[in-house]
Amino acid sequence: MIELQASQLVGKGLHRECYVHPDDDNLCIKVVVNRGEEETRREQAYYKFLQKRNVIWEMLPKFYGEVDTNLGSGAVFDLIRDADGSVSKTLEHYIESPQLTEVNFQGLLQSLLSLKEYLITQNIMTMTIKPKNIVYKKQEAQSGLCIIIDNIGNSDLLSISSYSRFFGRKKINRKWTKFITSMQKHYPENQSLHRILAVI
Ligand SMILES: Nc1ncnc2c1ncn2[C@@H]1O[C@H](COP(=O)(O)OP(=O)(O)OP(=O)(O)O)[C@@H](O)[C@H]1O
Ligand SMILES: [Mg+2]
Repeated sequence: MIELQASQLVGKGLHRECYVHPDDDNLCIKVVVNRGEEETRREQAYYKFLQKRNVIWEMLPKFYGEVDTNLGSGAVFDLIRDADGSVSKTLEHYIESPQLTEVNFQGLLQSLLSLKEYLITQNIMTMTIKPKNIVYKKQEAQSGLCIIIDNIGNSDLLSISSYSRFFGRKKINRKWTKFITSMQKHYPENQSLHRILAVI
């Protein structure tokens, strides 16, 4: 059984806690802390579906299966880190501060454009896209990757969008538009963000 220590906590959402894997700095273990079983089940079913399809994992952490921990069953994923070794921060972190958005303007803009293109070319479905469920993996001063760390999948695995690239693209475009609209609404003061949202 794997012992997870409070000092190794990376982040926490509404349902899960994310810890650095004690045996491998480049992996994390997510445990359910608050009624997240249903989301976890959906996520793992969708990951299985993607594994069978041989998708490219460029902007999605790989899933390595489940392990037993002192906090219950844990799901193992790639832990996303910046080029300097620190754990990557969420997009929410970068856009909460207009200054931080401005400093990383080019990197954020390019990586968001790439993320949208990636989701469409790989036909990867997401539930609601939220800035707290994307991390910005900073690689250089003005370049990086936006990686979706939570809420991928389809509420209905039999949904036509998962199998048809045509309907898939339509669905991804709809989710993306909602993602933009919600950021415009939530961060009315961040001018740099609004310049980014106008072109992605
Ligand atoms: N693969 C990862 N690499 C780096 N950081 C991560 C990774 N996965 C999660 N995190 C961090 O841990 C936090 C919580 O993880 P996650 O979003 O999976 O939990 P959750 O409870 O499912 O979230 P939600 O409230 O959106 O349902 C994230 O917001 C992020 O800061
Ligand atoms: Mg989350």
